[in-house]
Amino acid sequence: MSHPRPGQAARPSYGYIVSFHDLHPTPADFREEVLAGLLRVPKALPPKFFYDRRGSELFDEICQLEEYYLTRVETGLLERHAAEMARFIGEEALLIEYGSGSGRKTRILLEHLPGLAAYVPVDISKEHLLAAATELAQAYPCLRVTPVCADYTREMEFPDFEEFFYRRRVVFFPGSTIGNFTPPEAETFLRHAAEVARPGGLLLIGVDLKKDPTVIDAAYNDGQGVTAAFNLNLLQRINTELGADFDLRLFEHRAFYDPAHGRVEMHLVSRQAQTVHIGETTIPFAAGETIHTEDSYKYDLADFEQMAARTGWTRQMVWQDEQGYFAVGLFAVGQTFS
Ligand code: AVJ
Repeated sequence: MSHPRPGQAARPSYGYIVSFHDLHPTPADFREEVLAGLLRVPKALPPKFFYDRRGSELFDEICQLEEYYLTRVETGLLERHAAEMARFIGEEALLIEYGSGSGRKTRILLEHLPGLAAYVPVDISKEHLLAAATELAQAYPCLRVTPVCADYTREMEFPDFEEFFYRRRVVFFPGSTIGNFTPPEAETFLRHAAEVARPGGLLLIGVDLKKDPTVIDAAYNDGQGVTAAFNLNLLQRINTELGADFDLRLFEHRAFYDPAHGRVEMHLVSRQAQTVHIGETTIPFAAGETIHTEDSYKYDLADFEQMAARTGWTRQMVWQDEQGYFAVGLFAVGQTFS
């Protein structure tokens, strides 16, 4: 293989998606996982299904809410420290972002990484992924953008990207999305990320920290009801895509922080006894019965660092806001001897 070496010619101009890897994550799985989740006791649905077009829009709105401190604080940390982060990342890196969403945080990093080999957004939602990747490619015409459509909560074969030269892989996992995993799942994810990043690779990760429960509760119970709409949209999606007959007025949003488990639980509560149909399947609900739609774990920083160390990551740097609400950590693949 002859790779063009860096620093020889002017950077090519793209302005479009250079290649697209589709690992075909959902259509068949959506029906199966929804039915399985609603036939279980207690009922539960995985949060990855929130993000259809409408759900992604609502999530972007959540990120702009006064109460939702996570985005504001993390964005502030990225803005304040991006230059330093970029020095760790270095030239000609392959930046892999999991759950890439709108790309607003990515842009802060990209402003400081003109020498990136490629940007690889990974997301389960193909529509949203391609729209965001296209926008980014147009905004950064010298950046090679190579999206991967995949469900990273399952086993997946990450593309090897042998077709162009890069020096190191950097996994970017902002937003405290890791909080959607249970702690054992989070460990599995971090091990997977270490494999994907390969020796010499880095992880730049955003982690929401334990704090005053009233602050956390408010972030998931906003005054405008955007989070409620985001939660309820899951039922709308099931109606639209699976031909179900959920009456959204008969369910309500509930979210609360459980300090014992260190997590926010989100539920949809059935306001009365009722039955719902999904195709041939009938789902009974008792009055007050809930569908558990999301967990959002909050970490103690020391615990998180220990988990990273157990899963093959060496701490390089951790940035935090003055209030200690949120942390952005930088870790390198490698043995730690503690
Ligand atoms: C994208 C998983 C980080 O848990 O705070 C926001 C999703 N749910 N409001 C979070 C979410 C309700 C968010 N994560």
